Amino acid sequence: MKAPYRRRFLTLAGLGMVGGALGYAYVKGVRYPRLHFTPEPAPTAAELEGIGIQAQGAVLQGVAADGAIRFRAYAPEPRFDLRVSNGQRVRLLLENVHPDATMLVEPTQPGLSQQRTGLLRTVAGEAKADTSWHIRWSFPKPDAYRFTIIGDTGGGSELDWVIKRSLELGADFIVHLGDFYYDPGDLERAAAALNATSIPTFAAIGNHDFRDGWQPLYPHFTRLIGPRNSSFRLGGIQFVNLDTATDFWPAHRGERLRLLQRFPQDEPDAAIRDFVTFTHRPLYKVNGLGEASWLRRQLLDRGMKKLMAGHIHIKDEVDDGGLYTYVSGQGLGHADLIVDKPIAQILVGDVAPGKPVKYHWAPLKMPFEAHCNSRNLGVLEVLQRRQTLTRLRQICPEPTPAK
Ligand SMILES: [Fe+2]
Repeated sequence: MKAPYRRRFLTLAGLGMVGGALGYAYVKGVRYPRLHFTPEPAPTAAELEGIGIQAQGAVLQGVAADGAIRFRAYAPEPRFDLRVSNGQRVRLLLENVHPDATMLVEPTQPGLSQQRTGLLRTVAGEAKADTSWHIRWSFPKPDAYRFTIIGDTGGGSELDWVIKRSLELGADFIVHLGDFYYDPGDLERAAAALNATSIPTFAAIGNHDFRDGWQPLYPHFTRLIGPRNSSFRLGGIQFVNLDTATDFWPAHRGERLRLLQRFPQDEPDAAIRDFVTFTHRPLYKVNGLGEASWLRRQLLDRGMKKLMAGHIHIKDEVDDGGLYTYVSGQGLGHADLIVDKPIAQILVGDVAPGKPVKYHWAPLKMPFEAHCNSRNLGVLEVLQRRQTLTRLRQICPEPTPAK
């Protein structure tokens, strides 16, 4: 090929490749900063020899060598549809289920039994061959319940306190607004703390949970804590969890759109009395190309008039272009360290039959020793809070993020 033709050919080929990449990015969706393609949704099904299992309200964590299938619930009333082709032993483990939730198997499988250890359920036994059946759990208080809402706890002693305080406040579950991860190991520590308590937690993914530098964290978050986008309904209240961990392009596509499309704009679902829409970043902190305005419009058009968000380490209520936004981001209690007394707050939601959700703020009452975390030494240095720093060093001479 002559030189001018070769140059033209190479230019066209280059343009074609760029166009193809842009087209693929448009269809697939990209996340940024630290540009990369949007991840696949969390797996909710498992196929083993002789057993097919499809979950609603739970993500697959993995299948052990002995065939035990482990899921984590992201909804208070998870359900599993099973197909068993060979008569064989089933062993299903499910995390994050309220200890008083009741299990129902339809049609009945006499060979199955359930074991309960805290928030973990283990269903095991012989399943009949060539059968299709389902297991579901019913939340103990479907019509009147309380939940706490807070984000930005990290995965250490502050999270432990937030869980304890939620129990004190009589919460039946926690809605966590993301950012468990500030230090390596935090996601594992957070999962252990969430699994060790007596109420489930349903969580949004935070920007810190999404990646650490170039290292993607979202696969660990999805497996250990829950999916990036999800929804569930309990007693006529529709909970919607939206991923705003990093910016997304194009805003009007992807998993988040597919989730929102379950709630039609024109014909509101009469079975939904109120929405609890929650995410990590308030929309006025979302920087993506047209993303915040698109998302705001989508929510308002569907009757989602309120948004619960964290990310900013404050307690606030703001009218964000018609979207009433609660910011509950005091999970680390840093406000307490700034003024040297406990002033941080936690948001509480109350559900009563036939009523919309009622919200109020409650004191977080974080004890000073819950700040025993090496990260806080740097925070206090930056804030030049010498007295508080000295006090922290006295109470916890070797503060550490590890438990
Ligand atoms: Fe954040």
